[in-house]
Amino acid sequence: MSEQSVKAEEATEQAATLPAAGSGEQQLVRRQTAVYVYEAPLRLWHWVTVACITVLCVTGYFIGSPLPTMPGEASDSFLMGYIRFAHFAAGYVVTITFIGRIYWAFVGNSHARELFILPITKKAWYKELWHEMRWYMFLEKTPKKYIGHNPMGQSAMFVFFVLGLTFMIFTGFALYGEGLGYDSWASQMFGWVIPLMGASQDVHTWHHLGMWYIILFIMSHIYVAVREDIMSRQSLISTMVGGWRMFKDDRPD
Ligand code: HEM
Ligand code: HEM
Repeated sequence: MSEQSVKAEEATEQAATLPAAGSGEQQLVRRQTAVYVYEAPLRLWHWVTVACITVLCVTGYFIGSPLPTMPGEASDSFLMGYIRFAHFAAGYVVTITFIGRIYWAFVGNSHARELFILPITKKAWYKELWHEMRWYMFLEKTPKKYIGHNPMGQSAMFVFFVLGLTFMIFTGFALYGEGLGYDSWASQMFGWVIPLMGASQDVHTWHHLGMWYIILFIMSHIYVAVREDIMSRQSLISTMVGGWRMFKDDRPD
């Protein structure tokens, strides 16, 4: 028998041992290899935030390094005005949805809280963090499996994203208050940030640096999401789309 037909025969045998589609047995297999992790509001928040942060970084970059003067009459174009408008609109959306995300940490499942609460009092967590660091540096041969975030991802998301975005919201609305006027709600609520940092220019500089801090996170986050999707024997990107974590081997308890 040729090698090809042996393979074909093995494949047919394997298919015959798989449970029939839709059967109770198949559902059991699904329960053993997949877990529902991220609920719809969390997933929606993730992708709305991705869109907002992209707009904020592109428009913010141009606010900091404006394009050369447009040719023609000044009143014929409103380019920087549109760029600033897009920045402020995305700033509002990212802030309101972030408040929604904090609310979801209270009412959602346990995985919705992982972004905000690092188990820093648990000794075992540091051991797993160390293992994960070694795995990312290609020093471990086998990945550990996690139903929610792994300790490394969880720490990066908290330190770079939760703290970074909070900083950008406070400094952003402080600057926005300057434009709205000193008696505006934004100035009343966030105006104190300006003297705390020195003067308006200092807030601009820190807000600008904050963008690069978040870009650093985005670059490593996307790299890791794609890398782990391929290497960790569990799903990642599709989990943030459909909510289910699939495991190629047995799922962890
Ligand atoms: C991740 C989120 C954000 C990023 C990456 C970002 C980025 C930037 C950057 C790079 C600048 C230019 C700073 C400079 O060099 O002078 C800027 C300016 C500004 N941003 Fe943001 N920003 C973010 C969030 C926000 C939020 C939430 C608000 C609140 C509305 C906001 C309001 C402003 C304002 C008012 C300015 C100054 C505009 C001007 O002077 O014309 N930003 N932003
Ligand atoms: C501006 C860009 C992005 C930002 C700011 C961002 C931010 C975040 C945050 C804060 C979380 C934690 C979610 C939570 O626990 O609520 C997360 C998770 C995740 N993100 Fe992103 N993300 C970005 C882009 C992307 C992109 C482009 C992808 C896909 C390639 C991606 C894939 C994922 C995945 C797979 C998870 C879940 C990780 C896991 O299952 O443990 N992200 N992201």
